[in-house]
Amino acid sequence: MNKAFESDDTVGAWHVSRRNLVQAGAGLASARAAGLAAVQQPRDAAAQRLPADVGGTDNAAPNLMSITLQVNGRAHPITVDTRTTVLDALRETLALKGTKKGCDHGQCGACTMLIDGRRTNACLTLAVMHEGQAITTIEGLSNGDALHPMQAAFLKHDGFQCGYCTPGQICSSVGMLNEARMGMPSHVTRDLEGAPAAPSDEEIRERMSGNLCRCSAYPNIVAAIRDMAGARA
Ligand code: FES
Ligand code: FES
Repeated sequence: MNKAFESDDTVGAWHVSRRNLVQAGAGLASARAAGLAAVQQPRDAAAQRLPADVGGTDNAAPNLMSITLQVNGRAHPITVDTRTTVLDALRETLALKGTKKGCDHGQCGACTMLIDGRRTNACLTLAVMHEGQAITTIEGLSNGDALHPMQAAFLKHDGFQCGYCTPGQICSSVGMLNEARMGMPSHVTRDLEGAPAAPSDEEIRERMSGNLCRCSAYPNIVAAIRDMAGARA
């Protein structure tokens, strides 16, 4: 029987002596503290394995790698943490701030740029995976002061308001028109075997659905792309 509830000869079978109750309370408190420590220990160990930027406490030296990125026709030798995304390499290491960070997890399209001509979300891919590939950002579309025709079309049709999504919209639309020209179908393509034609508004909206615009400049964005696609066709 627990000492706290031992009988006391002089008072009765279930008399709880004050001294025993205090002893039992102290025992329970230390057992609870030991239990909490046991739970906390693995949590602390897990946190130590996580890097600080995701809530961990691992401030150990990063795993660095030296690579050369080909960006906008220029070779950029850089040394980066192997966990660095193309987006962070562009913005933080190469100071190319045209590629925007919106959600940083593949939902908004603000970071869209081209890798070997294919549109890619720069926040979803690691810099060390793209050594030797041709990366094109919004800064690389124009030729000096001469705008890329898609940039000019966005200006002509007011395809933006605040402009934050615009570099991603323009890079995406350039890549999208190449995809359509190569005959790559979308979810709304009806004729899978016909010759590629200038995409309809429905095609443009579907193919650009990965690029969000919080200002809702969509009608003008579609008009700019339609204009450019028609000119090309
Ligand atoms: S920042 Fe990359 S998709 Fe949103
Ligand atoms: S123009 Fe503002 S988010 Fe698209």
